Amino acid sequence: MRRILLAILPLTLMAVIIAPAISLGADFKREVIYQIITDRFFDGDTSNNNPAQSTGLFDSSKTNFRAYWGGDLAGIQQKLGYLAGMGVTAIWISPPIDNENKNEGGAQVGAPYHGYQGHDFKRIEEHFGDASNSFTAFDSLVTAAHNNGIKVIVDFAPNHSNNNNNGEFGAFFDNGTLVGNFANDTNGFFHHNPNISDFNDRYQDQYFTLSDLADFNQENSTVDAYLKSAVQLFQQHHVDGFRVDAIKHTTWGWLYSFFNSIHTSANTFTFGEWIADTTSDPLYHDLYKFANRSGFSTLDFPLYHAIDDVFARDNSFNEIDGVLSQEAANFQQANDLVTFIDNHDRQRFLSINNNKNRLHEALAFLLTCRGVPVIYYGTEQYLHNDTNFGNDPFNRPQMSSFDTTTDAYKLIGKLAALRKTNPAIAYGTMGQRWINSDVYVFERAFAGNVVVVAVNKSETASTPISGLFTALPAGTYSDFLGSTLGGLSITVKDGGGNNPVTDFSLPSHTVSIWTHKPVTASTPVLASVGPDVAQPGVQVTLAGSLSGSSVVKFGSTPATIVSSDENHIVVNVPSMPNGNCVVTVTGAGGRISNSVPFAVLAAKLIPVTFTVRNAARTNIGDYIFLTGDTVELGNWSSTYDGAVGPMLTPNFPDWFLNVSVPAGRTIQFKFIKIAADNTVTWENGSNHTFTVPASGTASVSVDWQN
Ligand code: NOJ
Ligand code: NOJ
Repeated sequence: MRRILLAILPLTLMAVIIAPAISLGADFKREVIYQIITDRFFDGDTSNNNPAQSTGLFDSSKTNFRAYWGGDLAGIQQKLGYLAGMGVTAIWISPPIDNENKNEGGAQVGAPYHGYQGHDFKRIEEHFGDASNSFTAFDSLVTAAHNNGIKVIVDFAPNHSNNNNNGEFGAFFDNGTLVGNFANDTNGFFHHNPNISDFNDRYQDQYFTLSDLADFNQENSTVDAYLKSAVQLFQQHHVDGFRVDAIKHTTWGWLYSFFNSIHTSANTFTFGEWIADTTSDPLYHDLYKFANRSGFSTLDFPLYHAIDDVFARDNSFNEIDGVLSQEAANFQQANDLVTFIDNHDRQRFLSINNNKNRLHEALAFLLTCRGVPVIYYGTEQYLHNDTNFGNDPFNRPQMSSFDTTTDAYKLIGKLAALRKTNPAIAYGTMGQRWINSDVYVFERAFAGNVVVVAVNKSETASTPISGLFTALPAGTYSDFLGSTLGGLSITVKDGGGNNPVTDFSLPSHTVSIWTHKPVTASTPVLASVGPDVAQPGVQVTLAGSLSGSSVVKFGSTPATIVSSDENHIVVNVPSMPNGNCVVTVTGAGGRISNSVPFAVLAAKLIPVTFTVRNAARTNIGDYIFLTGDTVELGNWSSTYDGAVGPMLTPNFPDWFLNVSVPAGRTIQFKFIKIAADNTVTWENGSNHTFTVPASGTASVSVDWQN
């Protein structure tokens, strides 16, 4: 599509079209993301170091880890060449919005250099941009990033403003105009509950306070509109993605409408921070249900913990293997999970285990594993400060150097290139081929492309790797990394597709990578549709091996193609009844691809709070759910995953839940009890009905019908 357009356009216009098009929508699987704490990266503009409206929060000596140190958006812009040279194709920057201006500390300054104490979500922080809080430096960074082939992801925190007990007492502003504050909250802009003490309690997580941060009441129509218009403002400033902070602590039902508002206004990649330490976390099920039904992705905390345990703390590879297979069973789009080995809230890898071999092995794993990888700034320079074991804030030291010759910098670059050239890395299956506690051999495969990775994290050479089979065709394969991590060659014999590899032994601390690309791909192969939940008219991105494809269908309904390249097709969701369907692509010669599931919403989503009074008697482990007549309400499903819930019961036996439902529709619904043993009890009587407003927020309250 785009290629045809370009042929008929003059050169000057082409530049205009090419710059925004680096974002072929909401598919980030071919990207390598680099996470930056703006304040700690590079000082590109000394004039904003100690601005008048928040003077005294800057520490030029960089000894107080809780003060501003001078890093800014101009500094990131000046280092884009360094990042592009490492193969980075997206940056995730710490929240750039205007933060509170007061000292949160005492004699020892405590400042929101990290960005998570917002006060005006529609302006840029003066320490990062300029004294008038304008978007000038931000726009300049986004344009320069796009010109360097780098997408921009903004960290956005809709859960809270700033501290409720100090400083500005939660005050928040709409482009300079005060909206409200926590201390004098006559409009109900905030929840006024204690700090969360039980992080496994659904009600506390959503309605209590996260470490004294004034907790927004997103069901309030002013707050709802404020947060949605703020995030859209960043879309108008051409950001390509959002990392959404603390989603486990933000009203979950409301978040569906928040993500829907983002996806409705532009084709943007979204991922949330929902901390689940392991797949046994009590709320892990809520997490994947949420991810599967809301169309956004999530940071992969269970895999992070496993990587940390295995590579930094020497646990067995079985832990990683177990997480990968559990998540593959639970997440509809596991390849979109956002993966990392450390971040700004965790100890840096080298603070746990100061062993470069292990760091290189973990990086090689991260960059070839399924998922969208994130490199935390400075990892490539072996940056770490081990004060207090390297915990927050010592995990956020000043970026030390911009050396383009470190082994880690070069390794990241090579593997970022492989992610672009071999679609098995971005889109492939993830299969274990050989494992013991120190050795992991895994295979990625997609549309005839194959990548096999073999890691030995031990101090000693492995036992012979015998009985290894692969989808690599017969032949001899040399190490894609050119032995930079000690890798070796293998020989594969023909076994009719399940091909035996001649026995070999992996030397100590090595990573070998063997790759294959087919000469031509014939039938199109569809990897994903993102987001996979949207109403008609919204742009979504198909990804996979798609060259020559001309027809996209949702069920049997064709969709209008907006643009395409060999790995992507952007389409508008066609006009069709709401419900679950599958998406397919038809390629050359009428060959039809595999299908990928998609949920067509009835309309744009509006958050509505549902209350049912005096619900059916429940025992511990029994929950009340909502179900109804549209896909948003589960289409009358009565299963834990299909219905909406569990609902919350701070005032037992009344239950409530904020739920995103289709704007302007008259919906029919009922409440059900799903008991701990999965027995379902429906309320009696006829269906309840409710007409959802066209905009804003709403609430509805009924008695359980006995
Ligand atoms: C999670 C962020 O990653 C962390 O740094 C921050 O302090 C909290 N959310 C609160 O915004
Ligand atoms: C300091 C932490 O570094 C930061 O991440 C967090 O947002 C604030 N405390 C508020 O909890």
